[in-house]
Amino acid sequence: MKSDRCPTGIPELDESLEGGFPRGSLILVAGNPGAGKTTLGATFLYNGAMKFEEPGVYLSFVEDKKSFYNNMRKLGMDFEKLEEKKLFKFIGVPYTGDPLSMQRVIEKLLSVIKEMNAKRVVVDSITALVHTTPSHSQVRSLLHNVFVYGIRSMGDVTTMLIADLPFNAETIGLGVEEFLVDGVMVLKTRRFMGIVIRWIEIWKMRNTRLGWTHIPFTIDVGGIKPLLPGYTPLLRLPLEANISLRTGISSLDKVIACIRPGSVIGILGRPDSGLHYVTTLITLALAKEYGDALYITFGEPIDFVLERIELIAKRFPELYQSKSRVKAIAMLPLVHDLMQSLGEVFKEFGERQTGIITLDNYSLIETIESQELHATLWSILSMISRRLGAILIIGAISFNDTEYPRLISVADILLKVKRGEKPNKLYVELVKHRYSVPSEHIGVLEL
Ligand SMILES: Nc1ncnc2c1ncn2[C@@H]1O[C@H](COP(=O)(O)OP(=O)(O)OP(=O)(O)O)[C@@H](O)[C@H]1O
Ligand SMILES: [Mg+2]
Repeated sequence: MKSDRCPTGIPELDESLEGGFPRGSLILVAGNPGAGKTTLGATFLYNGAMKFEEPGVYLSFVEDKKSFYNNMRKLGMDFEKLEEKKLFKFIGVPYTGDPLSMQRVIEKLLSVIKEMNAKRVVVDSITALVHTTPSHSQVRSLLHNVFVYGIRSMGDVTTMLIADLPFNAETIGLGVEEFLVDGVMVLKTRRFMGIVIRWIEIWKMRNTRLGWTHIPFTIDVGGIKPLLPGYTPLLRLPLEANISLRTGISSLDKVIACIRPGSVIGILGRPDSGLHYVTTLITLALAKEYGDALYITFGEPIDFVLERIELIAKRFPELYQSKSRVKAIAMLPLVHDLMQSLGEVFKEFGERQTGIITLDNYSLIETIESQELHATLWSILSMISRRLGAILIIGAISFNDTEYPRLISVADILLKVKRGEKPNKLYVELVKHRYSVPSEHIGVLEL
């Protein structure tokens, strides 16, 4: 017997949907221009055929077969091969606006579904379809007749209807279809100074207890790639409640006492305070104890980081070995697609079973003023550390105590770095420790 779910084959999305869409349901996917609607529809069909041997049909009013096949090949999805295996059929329809020809298209779609015994259908986009019908009641009866009754009566066919959503639109806009369908997902895109962030919002899914309802993702080989940890390919690190780590550097250990996996450590300091030194030092020290570290620095050249690592390894010979456990990456957030780059980082995190992620110069990201971006970033980052038992270290330049309210509240351990009167001394002050009582609140690091 077939399961009552129709998996998208995107693990994180399926995890959020109790295994997939309800089988036989009608799902509306609305999205901003370029948000990834076509990619999601294609991923749904491609995975359906490849992973579950379910034939699928793509009805497109917006793209011709050749460009669809070419675009998707770049994303690693070979629809031509699926077509040869009779697992896929593309129906391309030039948009004419003529209701009569629309009737013929729909008849064709229904006959193809029957002939192929298709289990999955994507219509891209329904906005075009709806615009050929003059009134809301006609839209409703069209949707009802074709999709609710027509396709449903053919068996367990799960249908995804794609709709266009203008930027900043609060509602999907066609007015009627949200109530008719079983599920509504909205794909959103925002751009901030060259940074693109994309996420899926699940607004409604009948018969489903939802997991994540906001799923940030990137588009890459394989199609839609959620940036959520907790499922493959990220591995869970052993998270034992009583693990507690020490840096092994006595002046720091008196201040930090212990560090549990799953913690967020914030390190703040004025420019030239030595905050990057301390951030790098703690990363190296923890790497020695707790596995590989990914050290991502924003805005500074990679050579500076490598020099800093060398310098620290010379000063603390016991950390010399852990140099090879730290992978340093320099990123320019205004140039790179930040979410995509972070996606790469998370992938690597899973493959290497990295235990530590350090983001240094986080202040550079914080200068990009967008609440949405930061909210998304923070939800990903804190989920990673909490769910996977990773240690997340964030270094940020700060001029006063009211900056970075998000970091300050999420951090389990918050440190402030100051330079002493003598140039070879750094003071590390503990501002907050969520689960331990350190013996001292200020430690002196001799450089
Ligand atoms: N090979 C690729 N690697 C990474 N990103 C890609 C690749 N190809 C396309 N993209 C991204 O995917 C986005 C387009 O995705 P898609 O065509 O699925 O969106 P859409 O919502 O269907 O767009 P439209 O509103 O134009 O129909 C583009 O913004 C582009 O940035
Ligand atoms: Mg599209």
